[in-house]
Amino acid sequence: MNGSIPDDKIEEIRSRADIASLIGEYVILKKAGKNYLGLCPFHREKTPSFTVSPDKQMFYCFGCSEGGNVFSFLMKLNHLTFPEAVRQLAKKVGVVIPERTMSREEKERYSLAEQIRQVNELAAGFFMKTLQSPAGEGAREYLRKRGIGESAIRTFRLGYAPEGWSNLLEFIEKKGISPKLAEQAGLLVERSGKSQGYYDRFRGRVMIPIEDADGHVIAFGGRIIGKGEPKYMNSPESVVYTKGNTLYGLSRTREAIREKGFALLVEGYFDLIALWNAGIPNVAAVLGTALTSAQVDLIRRYTARVAAVFDPDEAGRKALARSLELFLAGNVHARAVILPDGQDPDDFIRTHGREKMDEVLAKALPMAEYYIEQILGGRGTLEEDRDKLREAVSFLSRIENGVERNLFIKKVAEALAVDEDVLEKEVLRTLSRSPSAAPTALPRRTTAAEMDPSERELIRMMLEYPTRVSAVRDSEVLSCFRTEELKSLGEVLLAMDKVGKVMQDPSSLVTELTESPLRDKLLSLLVQESPYPEEKIDRSMADTIRKIRERANKERGRILTRKIKEAERTGDGELVDRLIAEMERLIKERASFS
Ligand code: GTP
Ligand code: MN
Repeated sequence: MNGSIPDDKIEEIRSRADIASLIGEYVILKKAGKNYLGLCPFHREKTPSFTVSPDKQMFYCFGCSEGGNVFSFLMKLNHLTFPEAVRQLAKKVGVVIPERTMSREEKERYSLAEQIRQVNELAAGFFMKTLQSPAGEGAREYLRKRGIGESAIRTFRLGYAPEGWSNLLEFIEKKGISPKLAEQAGLLVERSGKSQGYYDRFRGRVMIPIEDADGHVIAFGGRIIGKGEPKYMNSPESVVYTKGNTLYGLSRTREAIREKGFALLVEGYFDLIALWNAGIPNVAAVLGTALTSAQVDLIRRYTARVAAVFDPDEAGRKALARSLELFLAGNVHARAVILPDGQDPDDFIRTHGREKMDEVLAKALPMAEYYIEQILGGRGTLEEDRDKLREAVSFLSRIENGVERNLFIKKVAEALAVDEDVLEKEVLRTLSRSPSAAPTALPRRTTAAEMDPSERELIRMMLEYPTRVSAVRDSEVLSCFRTEELKSLGEVLLAMDKVGKVMQDPSSLVTELTESPLRDKLLSLLVQESPYPEEKIDRSMADTIRKIRERANKERGRILTRKIKEAERTGDGELVDRLIAEMERLIKERASFS
C-alpha cells in the first residue's frame, strides 16, 4: 500500500512533522486546552469543531467526522494517494526518500498528476531561463515598462516563451520526457491533419506559472507582449488544474494574508503581481472567471475576511451580487472595493501609489451594505424600482441561512422603501419554488450504538497506553469481544506489540478501520482528553477487562441455559451432562471475577 517507501522512512517523516503546524498552514487554529480548534476545511461550518491534538498527532472534526494523522490530512486536502502524501510531507520536513526505492512498476504507475506537475516545473524553469537570455530582452523590457521589479519576477517565477513552434518541444525531448505528457499538461499541442507531432502552445509570451497553494506549478498563463490577440493564453484544464478551484498567487501570498488578517481579491495576474510589487502582499486573484464557492472555501483556509475589487459598471455589479451570495454562504466577511475611473488595481496603484490604495481599502464598505444601499437603494423610475425589487427578491431567496436572510429582508425593505412583510412573503414564495435554494444538509451524522462501550474503552486505553497492551494479551479478553471491528483492531494492536513495534501513532491505526461509525467514534474519543490518568490506568484496565469478561460470561450462560432446556426436552441425557459441566466451569470463572 505504501508503494516501496520503507516503513522506517514513513515513520521518520511522520515523527518530524508536527501536525499542528502542518494543519496551521491551511487552517486558522486557536489553542483550546491541550488541543487546537479551527473551522473545518472539509465541510462548511460557522463554529469551529475541527480539533487538532498535538499530543496524539491527529485531527478530528466533530462536525463531519473527518479525522486521522498528518498523512490522511494531506491526502484528503490535496486529493493525494498515500505515497503521494508521504512524498509531499517528506519534502516539507526535509527527509530524502531514495529514488531507487521506487520499483519500475511503481514508476509506471506513478500518478499522472505528479508527472504533469513535474513537467510543468521543468517548463517553468525553461521559461525563466529564457527570460534572462538574449531572446528574453523584449519581455524584460515589457516587464520593466509595467514597473515589475526583479524580486517580483523571481517570486512569481515569471518567464518568457520564445517565438517559434518547437523551442519547448525540443527542450522537453532533450530531457527525455514524452511530448505526449507535455501535451497532457497543456504545454504542447498535437498537430492535426496530415502532419504529425506536436508544437509549442505558448509562443512569444510572458509566462506566468500558476501554482497550487503548496507551490506546485499546475498551469501557465501567457501574456502577449504589448498589443495583440488573444491578450492572454492559458493552459487548458488538466488532472492537476481546475480553474474554478484555483486562486492565482496564493502559494506566495498566503502567509501575508494570514498575517494581515484579510485578503484582497483581484481579477488578474498582473493586478496581483503589481500589488505585491508595490508592497501589498496579501492578495489572491481569480483568473478572469466568476468567483466560485470552491475558491471561497480555499481562501477561508487562510482568512475569513476578504476585500474584493469590482468594476463600477453593470458587469461588476452583477459579479458583486453573485460573489456576495457565495461569501455569505461560505461565512466569509467581505467588503467591496470599487476603484474610480474604471481602473484595475494595477493601473490604480501605478497612478496613485500605495497609500491611496490603503485609504480606499480602509473605506471599503461591507459588501452586503454596499449592495443594498448603493445598488438596490437610490430611487429611480417605477420601471427601475420594479427591476430592483425583482433582483432583491432573487438575491434574498438565495441566502441559505434563515437568520441572515431575515436580517437582510429588513435592510432591503428599508432601502427600497417597501413593506417588510410583503417582501418577506415574496421571498418565501420564491424560496418554495426553487429546490436549489433549500438549505443544504450537513454531512450525515452517524451513531455508534452498536458498539459495546466497555470494549470501545479498552481499545481506547490500548491506544493511549501502548505499554499496557500486554495486560490485554494475558487476559485473552479479545476472544470475549462482541464488536467485530473492535476485536480485529485489538488483534492488530496485539500483533504490533508482539513484534516489539512501539505504537507511536494511534490515529494511523484507527484510520485503517473501514469507514464506519466506529472509526468516527474512536477518532473523536482519541482527540478528547483522556479520562484515564497514568497512575490509574492499570486499575481502569483491569476493571474494564473484568467487565467485558463478565458480560461475555453471562451471555454464554444464557445460551447454555437455553441449550440445556432444549436437551432436556429431547431427552438427550449425555448432552445435558456435558452442558451442565460447562455451566459449572462458567460459574467458577464468574467467581474469579470478583
Ligand atoms: P493586463 O492587461 O496585462 O493588465 O491584464 P489584467 O491582469 O489586467 O487582465 P484583465 O483585467 O484584462 O483580465 C483579467 C484576467 O482575465 C487575466 O488576468 C486573465 O486571467 C484573464 N484574461 C484576460 N484576457 C484574456 C484573454 O484574452 N484570454 C483568456 N483566456 N483569458 C484572459
Ligand atoms: Mn490590467
